[in-house]
Amino acid sequence: MKIINSPEEMQRTAQNIRRAGKTIGFVPTMGYLHAGHLSLVQTARTSADLVVASIFVNPAQFGPNEDLAAYPRDFERDEKLCRDAGVDILFYPTPGDMYLEEHSIWVDEESLSNVLCGASRPGHFRGVCTVVAKLLNIVLPDIMVLGEKDAQQLRILRRMVRDLNFPVKIIAAPTIRETDGLAMSSRNKYLTPAERLEAGCLFQSLEKARALFAAGERAAGNIKAAVRAAIEATSGKVDYIELVDDETLRPVQTLEKPALLALAVKFSKARLIDNTVLQ
Ligand code: PAF
Repeated sequence: MKIINSPEEMQRTAQNIRRAGKTIGFVPTMGYLHAGHLSLVQTARTSADLVVASIFVNPAQFGPNEDLAAYPRDFERDEKLCRDAGVDILFYPTPGDMYLEEHSIWVDEESLSNVLCGASRPGHFRGVCTVVAKLLNIVLPDIMVLGEKDAQQLRILRRMVRDLNFPVKIIAAPTIRETDGLAMSSRNKYLTPAERLEAGCLFQSLEKARALFAAGERAAGNIKAAVRAAIEATSGKVDYIELVDDETLRPVQTLEKPALLALAVKFSKARLIDNTVLQ
């Protein structure tokens, strides 16, 4: 596995790979890897000749009072995990390499970004879109693999790729879960042991919603109330529980088309998200 720090070297290397007629599968990450990330690498391996993974904790997607400084980092461990998972090139730039002085161009999605996590974290998706646009221009992948856990990010990046004509295909990979159903996330590290036991409530509340939907419930308000009750039985604080149209992300009152049930819940230091599509 080759480690590349410089964006210019990464871009030159990608150009050479493409000239040689090989396809590139790309997995963008912020590091502190877990089995969820490694499953994205496996998907990339089966879909392209070479796999590039990036590790970059992107300052532009963190708000002023968020966890940029505390975000878990362990490059040595990540490097070994990538090597063992069959990553061919690990792109590991510094913030200074990615954002030159007086960086002044941003990619702002103006519709899907205003709700759910975008409403709680102003500017977050502008940071995500900008860094992913840059990574796509640097890594030049044929396919990019993203996790379904970040449902809103996935939909926004699909829209970015469509609206800005990036020549890349996005493949969505399913959420990988712990045995109690908790979605794997680097931020699970912030949970205290007691909170970790309670955090399974996110998945259990989604299961409850799926069961209500399967039994014929179509009123969004009733489904959201059941989800809220399951979460409020723990010390978790609801940031949002929303049922939105799966394509437009606009709120729905009655479920007639596929709807995304998305939630964000705060435990003391950890803000966790999860989702399911009811259809
Ligand atoms: O999902 C993530 O880890 C990040 O938002 C991404 C896509 C790597 C951009 O920084």
